[in-house]
Amino acid sequence: MQVDSKEIDAFLVELLTKVGKFLREDSIKKMSVATKKNRNDLVTNFDKKTEQYINGKIKDAYPEATIVSEEGYGDLVKDMSGLVFFVDPIDGTMNFVKRGDNFASMIGAYIDGEPLNGAIIDVMSNEIYHGGKEIGLFINDRKIDNPKNLPLVEGLVDVSAPMALANKFAVQDVIKKSSGFRVYGSAGIIFGHLLTGKEVMYMSYLAPWDLAAGRVMCEAAGMSVVSIDGAPINMLESQVVIVGTQKVVSEALKTLKAR
Ligand code: IPD
Ligand code: CA
Ligand code: CA
Repeated sequence: MQVDSKEIDAFLVELLTKVGKFLREDSIKKMSVATKKNRNDLVTNFDKKTEQYINGKIKDAYPEATIVSEEGYGDLVKDMSGLVFFVDPIDGTMNFVKRGDNFASMIGAYIDGEPLNGAIIDVMSNEIYHGGKEIGLFINDRKIDNPKNLPLVEGLVDVSAPMALANKFAVQDVIKKSSGFRVYGSAGIIFGHLLTGKEVMYMSYLAPWDLAAGRVMCEAAGMSVVSIDGAPINMLESQVVIVGTQKVVSEALKTLKAR
């Protein structure tokens, strides 16, 4: 299948610009909140509405593509052949509900299993991180440079709160070797920090839609994205993932007790 990464990039930026405007303007008015797997796993009418909107636009523009998405409006995708979009309509729903900031909307595109395009909007700051290996990386219209390959001792690290609290895989040993520990509650917001060199590592248990867009862009920026057991990333499964500078990821893998 012939795909044009630049064209997909323009499509994703236009789409997330509209999504951002709608979420900033409408969400405060008519939000209804329900729980999914547990009392802290929230879903709102805006998660659902936004996913339906994004998926509809993708199907109009790329009818041959398949969609993996969080809230159930996507396809049952069994393999990564062809053009596959991953959609997380609102990433950081807890922040969306409780704080009204630090939430994102994310779309990743893969072709025959290869990372192609990523786009993440930090909704309240209206900044869209987007691009890929072929076209480079941008925040809105501004091209960005790759972050420095800093070691653990020189950077801040993000670990999901449950993992850090439970000291999963002895992750606190990694945290202690770093400059400090941060928790934001949105994978999308953290990918923005990694891409701009504000933090050097993120470790979390991520579903395909949590990871897809950030993986495309972090790999394009020269960072490493690995599964904790060293196995290749499977984009159709949830897994514990470490994303960071090459130096930090290799140090983390040596420190973590994963097996
Ligand atoms: C969640 C956030 C959170 C991460 C969770 C995700 P959601 O996404 O990204 O930071 O730790 O694993 O599920 O549910 O708000 O889209
Ligand atoms: Ca979500
Ligand atoms: Ca998410």
